[in-house]
Parts: sequence; structure tokens; C-alpha cells
Amino acid sequence: MHNPQLNARGELTHLLTLEGLPPDVIRTILDTAHPFVSIAEREVKKVPLLRGKAVFNLFFENSTRTRTTFEIAAKRLSADVINLNIGSSSASKGETLLDTIDNLVAMDADIFVVRHSQSGAPHLIAQHLTAHGRKHVHVVNAGDGRHAHPTQGLLDLYTIRHYKKSFRDLTVAVVGDILHSRVARSLIHGLTTLGTAEVRAIGPRTLMPERVEALGVRMFTDMRLGLAGCDVVVMLRLQSERMKGALLPSPGEYFQYYGLTQEKLAQAKPDAIVMHPGPMNRGVEIDSPVADGERSVILPQVTFGIAVRMAVMSMIASAA
Ligand code: CP
Repeated sequence: MHNPQLNARGELTHLLTLEGLPPDVIRTILDTAHPFVSIAEREVKKVPLLRGKAVFNLFFENSTRTRTTFEIAAKRLSADVINLNIGSSSASKGETLLDTIDNLVAMDADIFVVRHSQSGAPHLIAQHLTAHGRKHVHVVNAGDGRHAHPTQGLLDLYTIRHYKKSFRDLTVAVVGDILHSRVARSLIHGLTTLGTAEVRAIGPRTLMPERVEALGVRMFTDMRLGLAGCDVVVMLRLQSERMKGALLPSPGEYFQYYGLTQEKLAQAKPDAIVMHPGPMNRGVEIDSPVADGERSVILPQVTFGIAVRMAVMSMIASAA
């Protein structure tokens, strides 16, 4: 079946999800990001790869890291960046998403970076652009509902590869609210596609998707057992805004069983790294001494996110 993210030559033209993306495409994105990491050390931090292009940031949900790093990435690629203020846009007057898109295309948009609470919104935009002969306009999913957050998955993969070199011998634990987490879904798809030896999903049953093993993971409800011998521990935020009804007794009890403390982290390998996509809830899913400790790579994740987003935008813009 045709992958809507790839053109006829197999080049990345939209980034909508890591599910079904060929491993060589994922590796190419990570390899393309690599030289962009060191650009931050240069006096002039810009390259002309997107000169003359317009990147529209459309964030229908709040964001600190993703929106800002997309903006920095686009500016480092020399693009013009337009951050649509959704609260004061005509979306608040009842304009449909696709009418908004058509109007922005009429303003010569080249790339849309879209975050939306509805799963599938970026796919819908990409389909609409293709159906209306706008193949030169590209869509990057910056997080849709609980479905996917592919650039977060890619920056997580980049971070793991940076610290651990290869995925082949790794055991990676993803801990917490997997049910509502687009970050977990994208990372798990990326890890399994790149041949990670073992991916574990750790959390209470109420926060696990049905048939979670079908994603290629081993499920653990006991955090200490799940962390035993891990190389990488990825903590997730409790997505309270997406929970319907009471799935948890209380944040305090959650922390007791699933909060990452130094004592629980001692089950993992001594050189295990700790990751978190942010925003963090200290004292709910992670203890401050761990979040700020020497095994935490949470802030390097954010920095790598700029390079990974530069890689994605430069690749899709160069696809014919
Ligand atoms: N990780 C992440 O998506 O963070 P933001 O919500 O701040 O973009």
C-alpha cells in the first residue's frame, strides 16, 4: 500500500507518523540531523536550505518545547516563520481547519507544522493538499491527539543513539501513561522499526492500551521488575487532560508505584539514561533528584529536537 508520507521516489514528503516509515528513512533523518547539532557552536547558526520558504506553525494545543524548537529550526534553515495565533485566528469564529489551510496556502505556505487535539488532523490536511494539487506543500505532525508525535519520537531515537550508539542490544523501558501517550506510540514504533532488542511498557493496567503487546513490547505492571537491567528509561507524563473518569487512585499513590526515584532507578543498569519528553510533573512521575541527576538526559533531548526538526524540514522541502 502507498505510504502517504513518501513520494513516488520513496522520499519523505510529509511526516505524519513513524508507524510504517521504512527503517532507512528513519536512519536518514537521524543521520541528516547529526551535522545540525554542531551548528549551535558556530558564530553564524544559519544555513540557507529553506531560504525563501514559509513555515507556518499551527498549534491548536499548547506547547513549549515543540513549537519553540520548530521555530528555531526553521529560522536556522533561513525560512520565514509564521506562528499563527490560533486563539485570535478565524478558527475561533467557526472557520474549518481546511478552510484555514486553503487561506494559508493562498499566502504561499510551503510547510505546515500542525499540533491538534484531534488524532488524524495532520493526515487530513496532507490528503486535502494532495487532492487539490498542492503536492509542493508539506505537513509535519507536531502531535495529534493520542495518535502520534513523530518528531518527538525521532528526537528520542536520536538521543538514545547518541548515548548508546546502537539499538540492537538495548533494553528500553517506557513508563507511565502509555494509553494516552502519542509520545510513547511514536517512540515504540521507532524503536521496534530500528530493531531494538527489547522494548518494555511499564504502568498500571488502567493506563495500558488493549493488546499493548501487539505493538511489539513486553508489558510490566511492576515497575521494579520492568526496570531490571534496562539501558534506557523513558518516563511519561500523566495525560490528565485526556483521561475520562478515574483511572488512578491519586497522584501520591501513582508516585509510590510508578514514580521514578533513585531507589527504583537502581534496578536499571548503572549506566542507564533517564529521559522524559516534558512537560514534567515532579513528584508525580519523576522525583527531582532523578530529573536533575547525572543520568538524566532530559535537557539534551530538547537540544537534539532542534537538529532533528531541521533534518525533517530540510528533507521534505527537498523532496520533488
Ligand atoms: N514534548 C512535548 O511535546 O512538549 P511540548 O508540549 O512543550 O511541545
